[in-house]
Amino acid sequence: MNKHALITGGNSGIGYATARLFKDRGYQVTISGRNSDKLSQAAAELGVEWVVADMARLDDLKMMATRFNESGLDVLVNNAAIAAFMPIDAHTEVDYENFLNTNIRGPLALIQALMPALRKRQGCIINISSAISNNGLPNASLYAATKGAVDAFSRSLALELAPQNIRVNVISPGAIDTPIISKLGLDEKQIEAIKAHVESTIPLKRYGRADEVAQVILAQAEATYVTGAVWAVDGGVDAC
Ligand SMILES: NC(=O)c1ccc[n+]([C@@H]2O[C@H](COP(=O)([O-])OP(=O)(O)OC[C@H]3O[C@@H](n4cnc5c(N)ncnc54)[C@H](OP(=O)(O)O)[C@@H]3O)[C@@H](O)[C@H]2O)c1
Repeated sequence: MNKHALITGGNSGIGYATARLFKDRGYQVTISGRNSDKLSQAAAELGVEWVVADMARLDDLKMMATRFNESGLDVLVNNAAIAAFMPIDAHTEVDYENFLNTNIRGPLALIQALMPALRKRQGCIINISSAISNNGLPNASLYAATKGAVDAFSRSLALELAPQNIRVNVISPGAIDTPIISKLGLDEKQIEAIKAHVESTIPLKRYGRADEVAQVILAQAEATYVTGAVWAVDGGVDAC
């Protein structure tokens, strides 16, 4: 029987590369996202199933979870997130809502909604956080707060769900070359300046690729004696 994997934010970047790798390895893959045009195009390219579900909308998450009631779910990759560079003075109420709901409440509520499906297959959960949890970055406090929360809730959930043989782990990417860079609210010049600075601080002296993160996500999904772990995929930044 094929294993089922659900990858949120699967139309772009790390999620897209992960969907491709899981599909290549024989998984039955579903990707989710908030934009049906982008999703359907990505799903057609990858040959996977797709479902529209906005991580900030609880009803969407509950609806998406019902798709797995019968089949069960082997792997959830909680990958979708938003990011932005914003000084503290610029945070608005809407920003707080968007970031907290999309990056923290969404992944947790999705896990909650999928518990029956995960129990059916003794599935595993992989939450994507960020190197920013341990390495400060100016003007990124709101995003950093949400990623620190992902590390924190994952460790507690790992202990809570271990007796049910449901593993919970984290992948913590460093600087990875994906479309997220163009969504940060920066102009081209700022992006180039940040990239050059960031690259100089990475021991391997380059940005990572989405497929390099996908390989580790797959390895973590199949590492049956690993739970409560945060694996860095960051070119050595965690060791600095
Ligand atoms: N790239 C990096 O350097 C880096 C570093 C550390 C951590 N990460 C983490 O890695 C994960 C993947 O990021 P990426 O770099 O691959 O970025 P990306 O290319 O921008 O992909 C993010 C995905 O999440 C989706 N998404 C955003 N908000 C959503 C919502 N409310 N509901 C449903 N889907 C939503 C996006 O959809 P749209 O296409 O509609 O925006 C997109 O498919 C994120 O959790 C990110 O925080 C990335």
